[in-house]
Amino acid sequence: MALLLRILKRIGLIVLALLVIYAVGRPTQIWLDGFYTGDRGPYLQMMTSNAVTIRWQSKKEFKGAVSYGLKSNQLNKTQYEDIANEEHEIRLTGLKPGTTYFYSVGDGKNDSIKGTDFWFKTSPKINVNSDESVRFWVTGDQGYPNLIQDQVRDAMLGWVKQNPRSINESPTVDFWLTTGDNAYRSGTNDQFQAGFFEPYKSILRNTPVWPIYGNHDARRWVFFDIFTFPTKAESGGIASGSEHYYSFDYANIHFVMLDTEESSHDINGEMLSWLKEDLQATKQQWLIAFLHHPPYTKGSHNSDNKRDSRGRLITVRENILPMLEKAGVDLVLSGHSHMYERSDLINCHYGLSSTFTSDMVRAKDKNNSYIKKNENISANSGTVYSVIGSSSKVDNGPLDHPAMPHSLKEAGSMIFDVNKNELKAYFINNSGQVKDQFEIIKGVEGGVESRSCF
Ligand SMILES: [Fe+2]
Repeated sequence: MALLLRILKRIGLIVLALLVIYAVGRPTQIWLDGFYTGDRGPYLQMMTSNAVTIRWQSKKEFKGAVSYGLKSNQLNKTQYEDIANEEHEIRLTGLKPGTTYFYSVGDGKNDSIKGTDFWFKTSPKINVNSDESVRFWVTGDQGYPNLIQDQVRDAMLGWVKQNPRSINESPTVDFWLTTGDNAYRSGTNDQFQAGFFEPYKSILRNTPVWPIYGNHDARRWVFFDIFTFPTKAESGGIASGSEHYYSFDYANIHFVMLDTEESSHDINGEMLSWLKEDLQATKQQWLIAFLHHPPYTKGSHNSDNKRDSRGRLITVRENILPMLEKAGVDLVLSGHSHMYERSDLINCHYGLSSTFTSDMVRAKDKNNSYIKKNENISANSGTVYSVIGSSSKVDNGPLDHPAMPHSLKEAGSMIFDVNKNELKAYFINNSGQVKDQFEIIKGVEGGVESRSCF
């Protein structure tokens, strides 16, 4: 008996010691992760039609400066920081819409970070009737630094070069969005450097990036130190007051960028209360939502399983989807499942996969062309759902969700082209082949109309 008590006491002490190590170790690790000493960037944040934030990091501390101008050899304006630091962040304001500027970063005297590929193009004016041709890139779960990540990136660059929107355009995308899990495995500062800033260095210097928060980003929270988000509606929409979720406008498109990892999915919670207000306020022609946890997937996650990701896939489907569909969302893009999955034009499916019926398919077409009657967003007029979670890794799964008939066990990313009332989408695999494509065209008589779910 005495021996047993001694053993139990010893086990108890070991458990206590482990708890102390965890309690002290995790905050210390998180605190240490807040620092990265090395060169990083530059990268472009919170682009609008008249402003952009340029961020970069240097090994040494100094007062940073950005010089900029309309030609790469005439950077005739300079903006300085007030305080010396290793982390630099300068917001340029008073810019012209839809205009290309070249820039250099440094101390404003001998800037070594400069050249013809250091440029940015401001967003066009926000306008429901915009006739801008908009091209954006979407990756998901792209944060593993590996060969697949490089191949997916290069396949996109190659495809864009071969498929320019016009003869004169530089072969690039206007901006880049992610569906979360931006740095594996824990979203540490070092992992962001290896899995995000290094592999995408040449893209980040001239392409604004709009990421969302995934579960792997949530293990350290440096995500919020690294990125600058429009919490005060700086880029359109309604002020979210939170870095976790935000919205922005580009030409005739309204984007809502949600946090399904840490923010409450409660319909009366802060995120969804803001979302409701934001959705009601937008008058844009297109509505596109990003959220990390997919409402429909049978990939490396299962949206029927209550225990999968602590039920988040189910509450996304039950609480967030009805709000988005009622607001007329055209497209919902998510990640998390390391595959590619896509629906036809569907709506009103908020239950388990076994409850999916053919009535919920609003449009199906052998050429994947979906036609909507209204020219602008209209309630419950059908949504295309896509899981883009294979931009650096492909996992196993049955891929048999009835709502997602266009599914592939392939690495890749997506390019979207929006021209007025037409949206075209391409899934490009890591060999540069288009393995899935679809289009949504709005404002055509005989197209899908608004229809109440209940
Ligand atoms: Fe994830």
